[in-house]
Amino acid sequence: MTAREAVETLLAGRPRTPAVPFAESYAPANIALAKYWGKRDEALNLPTASSLSISLGDLGSHVRLAPAPEGAPTDTITLNGAPLSPDTPFARRASAYFDLFRPSPSFRFDLQARNTIPTAAGFASSASGFAALAKAADALFGWNLPRQSLSILARLGSGSAARSLADGFVEWHAGERSDGMDSFATPLPDRWPALRIGACVLSSAEKPVGSRDGMRRSVRTCPFYSSWPDLVARDIATLHDAIAARDIALLGATAESNCLAMHSLMMATRPPILYFLPETLTAIRAVWAARADGLPVWFTMDAGPNLKLLFESSSESSVRALFPTATIVSPFA
Ligand code: PMV
Repeated sequence: MTAREAVETLLAGRPRTPAVPFAESYAPANIALAKYWGKRDEALNLPTASSLSISLGDLGSHVRLAPAPEGAPTDTITLNGAPLSPDTPFARRASAYFDLFRPSPSFRFDLQARNTIPTAAGFASSASGFAALAKAADALFGWNLPRQSLSILARLGSGSAARSLADGFVEWHAGERSDGMDSFATPLPDRWPALRIGACVLSSAEKPVGSRDGMRRSVRTCPFYSSWPDLVARDIATLHDAIAARDIALLGATAESNCLAMHSLMMATRPPILYFLPETLTAIRAVWAARADGLPVWFTMDAGPNLKLLFESSSESSVRALFPTATIVSPFA
């Protein structure tokens, strides 16, 4: 099935022309505690395993979506106030996404996107961006899709966007169906106000391999890729226990270990994918040394060299002293 066919299924019987002049929406970024690394269907962004994340509150993407004036030759796209040329990567991705539900081939969208994620914080904005776009399209056309369908629509833009439709802890169920209609994310009811996420930017250099190519390569060539789905399932079960008990040691240790397992998959991929920089190892050793000295802090990392720290409010001043430039987020504020 193509992504366009999946959208046809989702929108069956719903309006295909704008219901209002414009729509605005917001979605938070998220960071996975049990990671998504590998697709079972690349066209539909269907994962080989479930994943579990925490949304980042007011760090995310605001979008305003409207029809572009009649006769506009391309979609018009503005990012953080700057108009983008149609051949920039962001504009191309957004236009390809619009193709999934463009009312007619000549219909053009006007998109104004603004990220509240400091560019220097090292959090990906594609998850919040596509989740916000899915919500804005829903409002513009008056689809009134249920949250699960919105999660599917966001997933078709970027896998991890499926998890950015809700606040707090969110689980993306891998699903089994080939059309992906059972692969969506749902929020967990648990709140953990003392939880903190610290983002440490160690390098802002362009990543060597994007997640789409990296995942494809790992699924095809990592000699122990087949062990990954079971490992993630076990880690998700443990994370549920940790969240229910507000057990930061269990949450931190599970997330840290899951992230290192994902990076092991990446390193054992052929040819290898290595996101670690010398600064990454130095920071990991600093976290481990602080923990050995009694500071309850753990880390996780995505497809890049930067660390995200996991700790509770009672450790915030010590973590700040250790990583003075970290951006600290209170996901339940
Ligand atoms: O949504 P994508 O295709 O950018 O993939 C995200 C992959 C990781 O960030 C490495 C892990 C995750 O679960 O977010």
